[in-house]
Amino acid sequence: MTESSRRRIGRSKVTVVGAGMVGGTVAQLLAQRDYADVVLVDIVEGMPQGKALDLMQAGPVLGYDTVLTGANGYDDAADSDVVVITSGIARKPGMSRDDLLKTNMGIVRGVTEQIVTSSPEAVIVVVSNPLDAMCHVAHSASGWPRERVIGQAGVLDSARFRTFIAMELDVSVEDVTAFVLGGHGDTMVPLSRYSTVAGIPITELLSAERVRTIEERTANGGAEIVGLLKSGSAYYAPAASTAAMVDAILLDKKRIIPCSVLLQGEYGIDNLFVGVPVKLGAGGMEQIIEITLTDDEQASLQRSADAVKDLVSAMDRLQRDES
Ligand code: NAI
Ligand code: 2OP
Repeated sequence: MTESSRRRIGRSKVTVVGAGMVGGTVAQLLAQRDYADVVLVDIVEGMPQGKALDLMQAGPVLGYDTVLTGANGYDDAADSDVVVITSGIARKPGMSRDDLLKTNMGIVRGVTEQIVTSSPEAVIVVVSNPLDAMCHVAHSASGWPRERVIGQAGVLDSARFRTFIAMELDVSVEDVTAFVLGGHGDTMVPLSRYSTVAGIPITELLSAERVRTIEERTANGGAEIVGLLKSGSAYYAPAASTAAMVDAILLDKKRIIPCSVLLQGEYGIDNLFVGVPVKLGAGGMEQIIEITLTDDEQASLQRSADAVKDLVSAMDRLQRDES
């Protein structure tokens, strides 16, 4: 264990695996919160160490005492309270969805096995894509209860929905609440009936056509940013969303936010990770909130769950081919 990774008494420890764009930004946001020490783990030699040192040197300017450590292994990550998994690759030209799935399932499985050994009591927050499928990998590789393996997607997708609603109505994002359910893909389900401005459903403030346009923009939110950036995907909002989940867990906030969790019959869906509203606190996922859906909303959620099921079946097929 390196000198700098010694944990401050009374401080929690968060390990972020994958020190790329999302992982590095999560580390930065958590460092500024000044409530936990942060370990950045990546396979690229020197990179997590460099980012950790750089972030330590921002401390005197920004006024935080967070100890950040970069590493290429898991010794420094030992006994973390929360582990965020952002390691993986993005789809490149010529790669099929199955190629991406195969590579990232191998990475997430390997990383989870390390976490199980080094941080057996942690809560895992999965960020790597395809998100809901990678939650399945982390859950089965860990063998942990579903309460401690949770995926980040709903906070981001809902934040995108909130942004577009605020832009459309020219109101503060602070007064907008919104819910997006389902898998983290183009079948996600923005729930306009439950999305409000200061408590007023947006369906009363906007025409059905404008609501539909905003829902579609939300579902394509990730692709819109990829189209603009060209060389990568979004990271500021994904990292902020992930940090909000870490806050809820470490500070036991009992926030009600949409996360990808293993459903076991809730919403009529069994044994699939799908985004639904949950209570997030010190124990990880403490409760699944079941809200009443219309027939159309339930059908959309089922369609989204079916898309996750297709990915899980593809992973089973790839695993069979491997063995
Ligand atoms: P990135 O390419 O900048 O970073 C990924 C990092 O993972 C790289 O530094 C790479 O060296 C590292 N890595 C690869 N294999 C590893 C291993 N075995 N152990 C440790 N580190 C390893 O990518 P970025 O932009 O940070 O995205 C990371 C992941 O998050 C991608 O899968 C992306 O699609 C996903 N994502 C998910 C979102 C969500 O809402 N769930 C939102 C944004 C991104
Ligand atoms: C996003 O939604 C790529 O999942 C990532 O931005």
